[in-house]
Amino acid sequence: MTTEPPDLSAIIVRRATPQEIIDLRWRILRQGLPRSEAIFPGDELATSLHFAAAAGDTVLCCATMHLNQWESEPAYQLRGMATDDGYRGCGLGSRVLEALQSAVFAETPIRLLWCNARTPALSFYRRQGWEVRSDMFHIPTAGPHVKMTRRLT
Ligand SMILES: CC(C)(COP(=O)(O)OP(=O)(O)OC[C@H]1O[C@@H](n2cnc3c(N)ncnc32)[C@H](O)[C@@H]1OP(=O)(O)O)[C@@H](O)C(=O)NCCC(=O)NCCS
Repeated sequence: MTTEPPDLSAIIVRRATPQEIIDLRWRILRQGLPRSEAIFPGDELATSLHFAAAAGDTVLCCATMHLNQWESEPAYQLRGMATDDGYRGCGLGSRVLEALQSAVFAETPIRLLWCNARTPALSFYRRQGWEVRSDMFHIPTAGPHVKMTRRLT
């Protein structure tokens, strides 16, 4: 049996509210845990940026930037990067991350980004210009990670 490729024509990348993206985060990144684990401290702050790829009200990919620090320098931390299983590898993750990076560049003075990257997503981030900045470490509920950064120019 062959699987039809998903229809991408109705999907737009846009700003989102935390309320719109929490269920996708929960399903992809916090499976088996209480929904409250998918609500991150800082989500509601005015400095936080949330983007989604969505078809109408259906959110298929999401990501968030929280204002934070990297080695004492103000930096945005990328959090909650997730794409619905049926839409992986279609470019939605790249589009959402590019939109977030552009928003940080255009709307804030911050030029440094960092994240705790799950190791299976390493090549995805590298392709977007991110660099590994730590040894591998384990997060008990989410597996092996590395710290990555990207400087916006
Ligand atoms: C990482 C993730 C957000 C990428 O989103 P995406 O919408 O698939 O991103 P893109 O389509 O722009 O690029 C996907 C990459 O996966 C590859 N890919 C192709 N088909 C794929 C599939 N069915 N499933 C996963 N990845 C696929 C693409 O070739 C591309 O390659 P790369 O790894 O060399 O960059 C997504 O895989 C995901 O939600 N993973 C599970 C949660 C996760 O690990 N999030 C990151 C937390 S740090």
